[in-house]
Amino acid sequence: MHPTTKAIRTQTPRTAEGEHSTPLFLTSSFCFEDAEAMRGAFADETDDNIYSRFSNPNTQEFTDKLVALEGAEAGYATASGMSAIFASFMALLKSGDHLLCCRSVFGSTHTILSKYLPKYGIAYTYVDAETPETWEAAIRPNTKMVFLETPTNPGLEVIDLAVIGDLCRRHHLLLNIDNCFATPILQQPIAYGAHLVTHSATKWIDGQGRVLGGAVVGRADLIQEIYLFCRSSGPALSPFNAWVLSKSLETLDVRMERHSANALFLAQALEGHPKINGLKYPHLPSHPQYAIAKAQMQSGGGIFCFELNGGLDAGRRFLDALQLLSLTANLGDTRSIASHPASTTHAKLSEAERAAVRITPGLIRISVGLEHRDDILADLLQALDAC
Ligand SMILES: Cc1ncc(COP(=O)(O)O)c(C=O)c1O
Repeated sequence: MHPTTKAIRTQTPRTAEGEHSTPLFLTSSFCFEDAEAMRGAFADETDDNIYSRFSNPNTQEFTDKLVALEGAEAGYATASGMSAIFASFMALLKSGDHLLCCRSVFGSTHTILSKYLPKYGIAYTYVDAETPETWEAAIRPNTKMVFLETPTNPGLEVIDLAVIGDLCRRHHLLLNIDNCFATPILQQPIAYGAHLVTHSATKWIDGQGRVLGGAVVGRADLIQEIYLFCRSSGPALSPFNAWVLSKSLETLDVRMERHSANALFLAQALEGHPKINGLKYPHLPSHPQYAIAKAQMQSGGGIFCFELNGGLDAGRRFLDALQLLSLTANLGDTRSIASHPASTTHAKLSEAERAAVRITPGLIRISVGLEHRDDILADLLQALDAC
């Protein structure tokens, strides 16, 4: 079966009611017939659910679908994207280890690396997304893992997965990829040698701005370690959120197709506008890594970004002039969203750190929704006129 069919047809076994759509299993724990059945479950001799911090039919269904889409062996669903990323570090790294990470990385991931991992004796080095051939020089004898986002948030740099997959194979490093921006519909990092793929399901996977969620999928032995860490430390995804996200995966394919088509149309229409420069979209020929993006991403995704010539003040005027697009801290919604990373997601970085990841004062990130593309374009054009 094709993975998208599996994502639609994977289903928790039907209850005696014979329901077509999976019900919500709002239960903290599960009952056993007798003491022997309970002993067997605790001894891992059966797959029976015990307690919803460990597993639940709704979280399992969501995980199974994502595992199918990513081509993974196993997975574990978490309460948010950040808890998935944090769990993958805590479960697999130890004091004395070293991590390589792309410099342009989501703000909270940067905080985990810079503030928390050093407390546990785990060192990290940032490497530039656009020059993967330089990463080899940053590898130390104690380097254990490479973590990266592609495309990066918010600068949309695209990292060559074939190059990094090969690097990790040659140096026996774990490759851990945040696939939030692309989703498994556009890009499957495991095919390039990734051992783990993390997700903020809060974004395109939910796709409607309703629930937080996350997941990590990948090689079964690594996922088992992450599962054991999560089982004890408790960042479990709630059954309700898992139920929502499992349903969402059934439409991810068609939604991503339209998000990408809308985004490509808008990026083409706005490129060269006199009020902006540096418009970036992975599937526009002007993107610095266009050839790589075409090779590893089925379509360009739903995000594009640009720099307003007028800098910070123009950015404020632009956001204030928008009438249709939402000003909100999320992305990956049916409703288009404009954001200003310098004052929001990356505000905790110093000015020098922002400059290093090319977050300029006038950078605007657009998450393209499913509204009619002409309406989104009209709003962006009138806001550009006003700034
Ligand atoms: C690339 C990326 N990774 C991880 C996260 C964190 O996800 P969550 O908010 O679900 O914890 C985000 C959130 O914006 C993100 O953009």
